[in-house]
Amino acid sequence: MAKLCVIGLGYVGLVTASCFASLGHQVTGVDKCQNKLDILKKGTLPFYEPDLEQLLKQGLENNLLAFTGDVSQAVEQSEIIFICVGTPPDEKGRADMSQVEEVAREIAPNIKSRMLIVEKSTVPVGTAERITQTISLVNGGKGFPFAVASNPEFLREGSAVADFLHPDRIVLGVDSNWSRLLLQELYAGFDCPILTTDTTTAELIKYASNTFLAMKISFANLVANICERAGADINLVADGMGYDRRIGRAFLNAGAGYGGSCFPKDVKAFAATAAALGIDNTLIKEVNRINEKRIDFIMEKIKDALWVVKNKKIAVLGLAFKQNTDDIRESPGIKLIRELVKDGSKVACYDPRAMHNAAPELSSLKDSLTLAATPYDAADKADALVFMTEWPEFLQLDFSQIRQLMRTPVIIDGRNMLPSAKLEQLGFIYNGIGCGNSKKRFPATDLKTCE
Ligand code: UGA
Repeated sequence: MAKLCVIGLGYVGLVTASCFASLGHQVTGVDKCQNKLDILKKGTLPFYEPDLEQLLKQGLENNLLAFTGDVSQAVEQSEIIFICVGTPPDEKGRADMSQVEEVAREIAPNIKSRMLIVEKSTVPVGTAERITQTISLVNGGKGFPFAVASNPEFLREGSAVADFLHPDRIVLGVDSNWSRLLLQELYAGFDCPILTTDTTTAELIKYASNTFLAMKISFANLVANICERAGADINLVADGMGYDRRIGRAFLNAGAGYGGSCFPKDVKAFAATAAALGIDNTLIKEVNRINEKRIDFIMEKIKDALWVVKNKKIAVLGLAFKQNTDDIRESPGIKLIRELVKDGSKVACYDPRAMHNAAPELSSLKDSLTLAATPYDAADKADALVFMTEWPEFLQLDFSQIRQLMRTPVIIDGRNMLPSAKLEQLGFIYNGIGCGNSKKRFPATDLKTCE
């Protein structure tokens, strides 16, 4: 079993550390944030991620997982170092590499035996070379030998543990035989294809994968717009496309667009990489542009249903950027709320997991926003109810009760997740995305019937 060190205990780092410990490796997790270390040492998580807390507790109990703020001690004791710190976008959309560079500088003087340093963070092409250069620079070209490898993660928030333990593939970007053998041994028990490449190719696989998935979503959203005008149904178009094994149905769900800490950032960074290499990046930039227009599109739907949104109460359900997480980074729900308030609406919002993150984020909206305790409180006297996250809980709501509570029965389904026919039977005006129903309204009451 290997001695591993994981630097940076965000989603990627903590999942990596806990999962490797669950496989019997000795893992030390390092982070600069003392508060986070205190929380982790107690066996609790700083964020919500299904199945992770159990692995964390188990790792601590078995003494296979430890946490520290001391990089030097952790590095000295380990054979393989995983770099899992953040690479946030800078003002031009490029990945800001200062945290990775800082870690490389911190690792350098503590290499006391032959060492493998592995990038797991999503990093631009050439990062492995830059890490190598930085460590050599700090050590003045002396010291113990080391190698840098790239082993990108393909974890989705909300199912990260399962994705780690049962991956579709493992990519090992290595530039030496020694690093290849070490990583192949580490991943020997995994039952999936293991692709071994050079480091630059591995770095590109990660960006190309995320951008391709984001492109599928933006493509579905573009087709949804066409469906809406043409009177077709995007859900069925996506099904029809998805049966073709060359296309596949996954990531063709049209709706409010993609959010989170990965796709928005990675698509922009990939476009920046292409531009820096002198490659026309129009296609990549268009993926982002289509996505950024999704909130305007949902706003138009709400306005189309209500005519005027000023002083209307709009209930927004779903603040996490996707289901099964409390992460609100780049969340479409949060973006929509800001737009609604800008247009004078009063918003009541609810999320099963993300209220504690949304409250400080939206605190500047003060009187225009109510943080509801339940979805029913949010819907109470609302003029429209908008679903922005595909939480399974929302399918279990008592819509008859919601129909009674609302002032006007308008539902905007920003994730195409609800049973439209059932809702229409209950008296709702249901507006999905790209379902050929953009002009659905109650028919005008027939005058003769009134007489
Ligand atoms: C994504 C990738 O799926 C992972 O493979 C990758 O490892 C990760 O980024 C990363 O780079 O760290 P994640 O952002 O956690 O994972 O979540 P996804 O499940 O990919 O969803 C991203 C967004 O796309 C969500 O807002 C989701 O609602 C949206 N989405 C997804 C759609 O709008 N339509 C779809 O069909 C699928």
